[in-house]
Amino acid sequence: MTQTLSSSRISGFHKHSVSERIALLSKIMQLDATDSDLLANCGNLSQEVGNHMIENFVGTMTIPVGIATNMRIDGKDVLVPMATEESSVVAAVCNAARQAYDNGGFITSMSGAEMIAQIQLVNVTDPTHARLCILEKKEEIRAICDACDPLLIKLGGGFRDLEVRVIETKSGPMVITHLIVDTRDAMGANAVNTMAEKLAPSIAQWTGGKTYLRILSNLADRRLARARCIWRTEDIGGEAVRDGMIMAYHFAESDPYRAATHNKGIMNGVSAVVLATGNDTRAVEAGAHAYASRNGRYSSLTSWEVTPEGDLAGVIEMPMAVGLVGGATKLHPMARAALKILNIASASELAQVIAAVGLAQNFSAMKALATTGIQKGHMTLHSHNIAMMAGAVGKEVDQLAKILVAKGGVRIDIAEKELALLRGE
Ligand code: MEV
Repeated sequence: MTQTLSSSRISGFHKHSVSERIALLSKIMQLDATDSDLLANCGNLSQEVGNHMIENFVGTMTIPVGIATNMRIDGKDVLVPMATEESSVVAAVCNAARQAYDNGGFITSMSGAEMIAQIQLVNVTDPTHARLCILEKKEEIRAICDACDPLLIKLGGGFRDLEVRVIETKSGPMVITHLIVDTRDAMGANAVNTMAEKLAPSIAQWTGGKTYLRILSNLADRRLARARCIWRTEDIGGEAVRDGMIMAYHFAESDPYRAATHNKGIMNGVSAVVLATGNDTRAVEAGAHAYASRNGRYSSLTSWEVTPEGDLAGVIEMPMAVGLVGGATKLHPMARAALKILNIASASELAQVIAAVGLAQNFSAMKALATTGIQKGHMTLHSHNIAMMAGAVGKEVDQLAKILVAKGGVRIDIAEKELALLRGE
């Protein structure tokens, strides 16, 4: 048991060095040497980098990274690093990709690399008139935005377009300006937020209103990653499997309760690659779920159909705001290694790979659910975790995991008993 905390107010915690913070924390919470050693061991992120990345840094949380094999995307074989704590996620992608490989794998595309920044304008009595005043300033707006980021302009990005909407709210009408910006190989949050903040005073001046929020939208629907794939019916176990999967999709398409889980499975794959490459998992997740609701009811991010040849065609289309520069992508050594393994040239290419992984993940989940159920495969993989939780080490982990699967009882209580037997206790 650790100490009950009397106060969470620790004055100047951020001013201490990492080891001082760990020592202080260990003293306050009576952590033992094992805990403080764990905190001090930062794995593949140095204490120094970690300490600069976030406030009050005391350690890292290491997540396993696995490689999805068998992925063939746009005629090229790719190895995809995935960071996830969930046992079956990497295996699911490998399996789906294997079943698609002989038929050519995945074909991908991208709608563009444009991010949206929003500027909120209030206190205007004539919002419709104000809207046109802003739209007329498009070229001035372009100049203000492009001046914010000369490097982005040099790389071929920058301001692309302007949208202005009047929305009705409980606080009265608001005039919402959208800056549409090509952010090239950056995720682009910093670039577009800077532009929005720089431009806001001019918008207030042109309209006589007051600006408040100036921030990107995570509904990045001008940065849609797309992937499609055809699985031959004979490669996936026949027509009954195919038809079960189509019905699984129709279920998700029609029912938000199912769609949430269906899309969670897709995000198992998507977020794992986003995390492994040091990108912002929450941004991609927010965009995905908002996009899944774009028609007024939450629905599936994928679509599934039967081709004229009787094969199974899967399609995914979703916002994918990821970058190769900025954020942790260049800072975290593991993210840099992941990008090397992927061997890709642009943020769009990364987004497309991620979309293919999402589609593959959904294929495997639907196939398992429509046939044997997911517990068999999941528990087989999870048996290793249970074996380790029961205390198995070294060779015992595999041995005990096999015993648990054979007994059909992947449970901690059974694992503890079986481990004792295995050790002859
Ligand atoms: C589990 O992490 C993901 C699934 O629930 C996805 C799905 O139901 O489609 C298996």
